[in-house]
Amino acid sequence: MSKKPIGIFDSGVGGTSIWKEINALLPNENMLYLADSANAPYGPKGAKTITNLSIKNTEYLRDQNCKIIVVACNTATTNAIEHLRNTYNIPFIGIEPAIKPAALQTKTNAIGILATQGTLSSALFSKTSGMFATKINIIEQVGEGIVDLIESGNLHSTAMQDLLKQYLEPMLKANIDHLVLGCTHYPYLTPLLLKLLPPHVKIIDSGQAVARQTKAILEQNNLLNTSSTPGENQFFTNGNPEIMASLLNGNHAVNFLNF
Ligand code: SIN
Repeated sequence: MSKKPIGIFDSGVGGTSIWKEINALLPNENMLYLADSANAPYGPKGAKTITNLSIKNTEYLRDQNCKIIVVACNTATTNAIEHLRNTYNIPFIGIEPAIKPAALQTKTNAIGILATQGTLSSALFSKTSGMFATKINIIEQVGEGIVDLIESGNLHSTAMQDLLKQYLEPMLKANIDHLVLGCTHYPYLTPLLLKLLPPHVKIIDSGQAVARQTKAILEQNNLLNTSSTPGENQFFTNGNPEIMASLLNGNHAVNFLNF
């Protein structure tokens, strides 16, 4: 049993999609969320820079006494989690695009994956997609510009709609029946994607699987908070707190932190 907080970090606001799933499954856990929005997006950065930013975020959360760290960013996971696991004596949960369930369920043998350049070009992603690439047509698409629009509060803009139409076109031509969201910012696009995609295309993200994995690792390490009162959730950003608060539906205070 441990009342210490779960630490969560992301390149920005997108990892709140993961926080929501963990909070739904483990409402009594205390959680501390760190958004490195001043350095977003991580996607176009090189592996070394992404690793250094992930180290900075990890050390902040470690210094706040977090009992586990959720790397709520696909780009940081695919580029840096191995280094983090080898360096710090804290359990880490990472996020990888959910290619496996999509590949197992597809009937058209074609799945689309929308992710950042940093994720799609990582060795970890090549390894995972390589396991299915011989049997399935995987249409990869870099979601260039999407994270910038979300981080600047333009989630519901015409620019976003135009970008998505452009990115979905080759996937729809290839007859995908599953679209894998390979970036934690992208679940916020689901309402828009549902309007743009034909009804037979299923959208898959990793949020619930990550929440279940977090619970399992806490249990294995005897770190679950077994208290019966709701946990405290703290949100910090080095970007614009108002944009992040609006993604949390105004239900949580977001504090500016210069880290
Ligand atoms: C980014 O910062 O470019 C996206 C974060 C992610 O991959 O989840």
